[in-house]
Amino acid sequence: MKKIIEFNKINFGYEKNLPILKDVSFTINDGEYICIVGHNGCGKSTISKILIGLLKPWSGEIKLSDQIINQSNYHLLRENIGVIFQNPENQFVGLTVEDDIAFGLENKQIDPLEMKKIIADVSKLLKIDKLLKLGPQNLSGGEKQKVAIASILAMGPKIIVFDEATAMLDPKSKNEIKNLMLELKQKYHKTIISITHDMDEASKADKILLMNKGQVQDFASPLDIFKNVGKVKDAALDQPFILKLSMELNRINPHVVPTLNSKQLIKNIIDLKKQ
Ligand SMILES: Nc1ncnc2c1ncn2[C@@H]1O[C@H](COP(=O)(O)OP(=O)(O)OP(=O)(O)O)[C@@H](O)[C@H]1O
Ligand SMILES: [Mg+2]
Repeated sequence: MKKIIEFNKINFGYEKNLPILKDVSFTINDGEYICIVGHNGCGKSTISKILIGLLKPWSGEIKLSDQIINQSNYHLLRENIGVIFQNPENQFVGLTVEDDIAFGLENKQIDPLEMKKIIADVSKLLKIDKLLKLGPQNLSGGEKQKVAIASILAMGPKIIVFDEATAMLDPKSKNEIKNLMLELKQKYHKTIISITHDMDEASKADKILLMNKGQVQDFASPLDIFKNVGKVKDAALDQPFILKLSMELNRINPHVVPTLNSKQLIKNIIDLKKQ
């Protein structure tokens, strides 16, 4: 697997002598879907702002596709990494959906014909092609969040960070955006980093980065993280329902294997009944 992002012993704070991130190290591979989870205030959004080059670490090293980031190539972070924040209201910059998606492309001085094609492609992917002429006042929160994602996708980043991007949405829009993250990984080979308090979402990630008070507590598969009840309690996480249920059943019958996957659990139970 090709490495795409490396943090090596990153230290950062907003105020002198008040470190927020302490020796944060992790490696993310190209095409992975990573969830960052942990308490409020443990430094997750700070990581996302360092990732996109908005904040500079006090010390440590960031690598993007094996290239060390330094003063002279900081722009590489902004060019390769896009971010979608929690509040869809704050991300709309155009007068219409079309303007909003065009905004970043105009800054990049993309040829108008090429721009039309990009806008058509991303709005089709996000299913907002019927909304292109509308203004933000005519859109729902979920639709605005889709526009924010379309505007980021139009810029063609390799890596997309979702910082609690579904937190303010209703269950239907939430599911649409969660499915879209998986689609962006599977169909478009994007690397997805999603900061979330939604444990059912995190259970679908390739790996979970568990943060605790500015430090990496664990970086492992969802099953490894959630199976460890002690760890889950320490980090004030909720165990996903299917895992809780399969662990309870496992205590009654050790042939039921703890899992995060509902289909796997159902198959397991049916197979046991057949025996
Ligand atoms: N601009 C700032 N100036 C000073 N302190 C800040 C600033 N932004 C964040 N902090 C502090 O840094 C710490 C980490 O904040 P951060 O936003 O990274 O947490 P988080 O893990 O994203 O939390 P949440 O789950 O609530 O979004 C918090 O204690 C916060 O108060
Ligand atoms: Mg945050």
